[in-house]
Amino acid sequence: MNIAIFCSGNGTNLQAIINSQKKGHIKAEIKLVVSDVPGCCALTRAKNAGINIGINILVVERKNFKTKKDFEAEFLKALKKEDIGLIVLAGYMRMLSEDFIAAYENKILNIHPALLPSFKGTQGIKDAFEYGVKLTGTTVHFVTKDMDSGPVILQSSVKVTEDDTEETLAEAVHEEEHKIYPRAIQLFVDGKLKIEGRRIRILD
Ligand code: GAR
Repeated sequence: MNIAIFCSGNGTNLQAIINSQKKGHIKAEIKLVVSDVPGCCALTRAKNAGINIGINILVVERKNFKTKKDFEAEFLKALKKEDIGLIVLAGYMRMLSEDFIAAYENKILNIHPALLPSFKGTQGIKDAFEYGVKLTGTTVHFVTKDMDSGPVILQSSVKVTEDDTEETLAEAVHEEEHKIYPRAIQLFVDGKLKIEGRRIRILD
């Protein structure tokens, strides 16, 4: 199976996935990295890894296209060319259109830095910290048309202590993300995720 990873930022999840694939834990090829932010850290990581494992990189800026449809058409072209069977959103900070999601139904994963359905949106860690929760974490889920709302695949919790700052909490959440995202991808690639309505059954 060929995988595409979409990112817009730092790329630490991208790195964790690449590392896991290199160790042989993910039995699939990372064929394509897509970004909407030229010069982002994730692209440097992809370039460095690409030298060894031949990742193609596509950078497409929204401002260069009149419509979202035209913008996403660039992605779709590359995804088809690389025969992508799984799209992994790793800090990709744009909503995908309904048409795009429909074209890859149940083949798009996302990671969110909170225990969904709490603290949806772009600031999951900050929002949870400011709310004062004692427990937060991270969620890997299938992407559906509503933001951060698709069926949950894996979650991992993180305790918030009185000594935590938003920064230390972010570190702890990211550490969990780097464990569960590669694992969720591995389960998908191995055909072990069975979707039953909102529930995901993990097959033995
Ligand atoms: C991750 O914490 C991910 O959960 C979050 O962006 C960060 C990307 O970090 N995604 C969202 O908030 C999506 N709503 P990274 O670029 O270092 O992987």
